[in-house]
Amino acid sequence: MRRSLGCLCSMFFHLAVCWGQRSNTDDGRDSCTRCDLQLHCNCSCRGFTQVPRVTDEALVLDLSFNNISEVTDDDLRGHAFLRVLDLHGNSLASIHPSAFGSLWSLEELDLSDNQLTVLNHRWFSELGALQQLNLLNNPYRHLGSSLFYGLVRLRVLEFGGPVLEELSRGDLRGVTQLDRLTLRANNLIRYESGTLAGIWPLGRLTLNLQRPLLTDSSLVSAVLNDVLSPETHLTLEDIYMTSKTPIQILRDTNINRTRHLSLRNCTVSDEAVVGFLMAINGSPLTSLSIDGLTVTGEGRWAGANWTDLRSMDEFLVRNLVLQDVFTFFLIGNLYFLVQNQRKISLINAKLFLLSCYSTRLMKDVQYLDMSDNLLTDLTLGYMLCNGDDTLTDLRVLNISGNNLKSLSTISRLAARLTKLTHLDISRGGYCSMPPRCSWPAPLRYLNISSAKLTTATPCLSTTLEVLDLSNNDLKSFTVSLPLLRELHLSGNKFLSFPDGRLFPNLQTLTMRSNTLNLFGGSDLQSYRRLENLQAGQNKFVCSCDFVGFLQLLLKGGGDVVLTDKEDSYHCDSPLYLQGESVSRVHLSIIVCHQVLFVSVSCGVALLLASLVCVLLWRLHAFWYLKMIWAWLKAKRSSQQRQRRRNDEGSEALISFDAFVSYSEQDASWVENFLVPELEDPSDPLQPLTLCLHKRDFLPGQWIVDNILSAIERSRRTVFVLSKNFVRSSWCRYELDFSHFRFFDAGGDEAILILLEPMTKDDVPKRFCKLRKLMSSTTYLEWPQEEERREEFWRSLRNALRGE
Ligand SMILES: *[C@@H]1O[C@H](CO)[C@@H](O)[C@H](O)[C@H]1NC(C)=O
Ligand SMILES: *[C@@H]1O[C@H](CO)[C@@H](O)[C@H](O)[C@H]1NC(C)=O
Ligand SMILES: *[C@@H]1O[C@H](CO)[C@@H](O)[C@H](O)[C@H]1NC(C)=O
Ligand SMILES: *[C@@H]1O[C@H](CO)[C@@H](O)[C@H](O)[C@H]1NC(C)=O
Ligand SMILES: *[C@@H]1O[C@H](CO)[C@@H](O)[C@H](O)[C@H]1NC(C)=O
Ligand SMILES: *[C@@H]1O[C@H](CO)[C@@H](O)[C@H](O)[C@H]1NC(C)=O
Ligand SMILES: *[C@@H]1O[C@H](CO)[C@@H](O)[C@H](O)[C@H]1NC(C)=O
Repeated sequence: MRRSLGCLCSMFFHLAVCWGQRSNTDDGRDSCTRCDLQLHCNCSCRGFTQVPRVTDEALVLDLSFNNISEVTDDDLRGHAFLRVLDLHGNSLASIHPSAFGSLWSLEELDLSDNQLTVLNHRWFSELGALQQLNLLNNPYRHLGSSLFYGLVRLRVLEFGGPVLEELSRGDLRGVTQLDRLTLRANNLIRYESGTLAGIWPLGRLTLNLQRPLLTDSSLVSAVLNDVLSPETHLTLEDIYMTSKTPIQILRDTNINRTRHLSLRNCTVSDEAVVGFLMAINGSPLTSLSIDGLTVTGEGRWAGANWTDLRSMDEFLVRNLVLQDVFTFFLIGNLYFLVQNQRKISLINAKLFLLSCYSTRLMKDVQYLDMSDNLLTDLTLGYMLCNGDDTLTDLRVLNISGNNLKSLSTISRLAARLTKLTHLDISRGGYCSMPPRCSWPAPLRYLNISSAKLTTATPCLSTTLEVLDLSNNDLKSFTVSLPLLRELHLSGNKFLSFPDGRLFPNLQTLTMRSNTLNLFGGSDLQSYRRLENLQAGQNKFVCSCDFVGFLQLLLKGGGDVVLTDKEDSYHCDSPLYLQGESVSRVHLSIIVCHQVLFVSVSCGVALLLASLVCVLLWRLHAFWYLKMIWAWLKAKRSSQQRQRRRNDEGSEALISFDAFVSYSEQDASWVENFLVPELEDPSDPLQPLTLCLHKRDFLPGQWIVDNILSAIERSRRTVFVLSKNFVRSSWCRYELDFSHFRFFDAGGDEAILILLEPMTKDDVPKRFCKLRKLMSSTTYLEWPQEEERREEFWRSLRNALRGE
């Protein structure tokens, strides 16, 4: 017994300790509950200083941009389902070796932009499912050997930082095949040849070796020679090519092995350009893209005009800055650069003119992107040789974001590009659409979004399959486009859907950010092929039909799929639902079936009312009401009479000795016994005068008034009580009883005569005053025996005379 008690005690103690421990660790930690339906928890920018508590079921946990300095052993325990963990932009300086020990499902881990000075291979030892790892921008000097050894699924690896000094052979052991590798090592000092050589195949390589590029060409060559292969798409970041060094590096390496080269944030002088062109002369480079190109020279690149760039298929320059824009004279001697490509993009290059001569040289070009430049209707005319035989192979023309104003000019010029299928003229200044236009016959895609169009006319080609008219000022659309598959009308002023019969083949329709109030099955019925719809961000009136219909669509229970996010559907009215997500609205039956509800509730109310009436009738409530009413009225008239009498100064005149209140059934007793006896003129004393309603009431006067004045004019009131009095004819009761109830007749003014033996309990409860009287006042009982009657009359007389 004692032992089991001890056992129990120790168990409690143990429990308490465990519990205490748990609450201790829990206490200090905030929790984050910003998880959506897909269990994506966005705890970004919340000022957390510790890893917050989050539901164990979370799939994605975004903790970026907090102030978390440490991940402890316990912080992420139990998150066995977590797939994405983002700790980017914190102040992480320490991570417990087994902090990620239970994240068996983790596929993406981002530790970039933190304060990690040492990396520990034990962090990753359990992350067998990890596919993406980002360790960029932490202050570690080296990686440490075999850091990634167990990460067999790793496909994306990003590492490096401001102080990374050294990379040696063991560091990347186990990393064999990557889709993407990013290495930022501006201050790399030592690189052991072969460190990156084991990674093959390697899809994309992004290198930022800014300082070594300027100072240590052998290191850069060593790196490049390890990783360059025809399959690898190489991106070099932050290049400053004004001196000879970087060119030398390009010459010293197998740069001529790469097929895809991108440069990002690149500053070049004239010599550097010439050197670079010579370095890639005759190489199999098929695509060259330069994003962020600053040209410091004047365009004296003719020294390389002999270079062979025949294999280059694709050439892109985006965000070009000419430092000496006024002395620059590129135009005229550099067309060798763009002669052979099929795909040319010169985006945001501040070009206002491309001459007819130059476009004629671009004889192979099929894809020309000149978006975000300074072309006008006029210079576009020059560029396309005013419609005279140029760019004959062109399939795609993108002149989005230029200073174009006239749709008819564009359509006239474009009509001569006989192979054109895609035309993007979005973000232009077109105010109107001409009634008719001519377009190239194969045109299938037309983008005129973000202009200022107010109407859509048959200018639109009937061959179109994709049409984007978003962000204009359209209110209606009545052009029939039989082949159209996609129609984008977001950001306009539509109040309702266009008629679907105009587009028998339409599959995708976007109507976001319009002024739609609601839509329903009938709107979509005319679209026979519609599959995808986006209609969020409208000012929806959340009627029952609309809410029901939309919730059905959101659940996937319709022919049409809503492809925008469900939280872009909000109610704008009624007011109490404003801002509420339509998918979460629950409208009550009251709102949704108003007619039914009103009729049912009226019926119920009627039923209740009749029930109440019946109940009231059963409880004699009407009787009480009538009594109160009568009393109030009588009281008033009595007061009036009183006042009149006071005015006349006359005494209250008493004309009767007693008012007799009795039931009709007892009338014979009153007439045969009471009246003859009391009004007997042979009475030695003066005979008594009685007031009987039958005899003395004034005909034509209100009966209650009559009663009242009778009582007033009588000194006493005699109640002839019998079972009849209380039980029979209610109407008599009312009359007889009214004064009883409401005029406090007092004990000696009321005289009770009991015609037959009865007790207080025989009187119904609502005659409460009578019951009270019966219990407090002595009453005279009508004797059945002849001999005792003499005494009865005497007592009665005495009572009436007030003795
Ligand atoms: C997470 O929240 C932050 C700010 O609270 C926001 O900037 C960010 O876009 C959100 N991320 C996602 C994926 O919604
Ligand atoms: C982050 O936390 C440290 C102390 O841990 C504090 O000094 C710093 O001000 C905090 N930074 C922000 C942005 O809250
Ligand atoms: C571009 O590269 C230069 C060095 O060539 C660097 O100083 C600058 O910070 C870079 N700019 C950006 C936006 O990365
Ligand atoms: C590539 O460059 C290397 C070194 O400059 C050179 O030896 C090789 O012949 C070049 N290959 C081709 C195909 O140009
Ligand atoms: C290259 O430029 C020089 C002048 O700088 C010129 O004489 C020569 O004809 C040009 N060659 C080609 C192929 O354009
Ligand atoms: C044209 O360029 C704009 C801006 O660069 C881009 O958004 C659009 O997708 C491009 N259009 C086509 C058809 O590539
Ligand atoms: C039309 O152009 C705009 C702006 O350039 C772009 O954002 C949009 O995606 C394009 N529309 C289609 C359907 O490609």
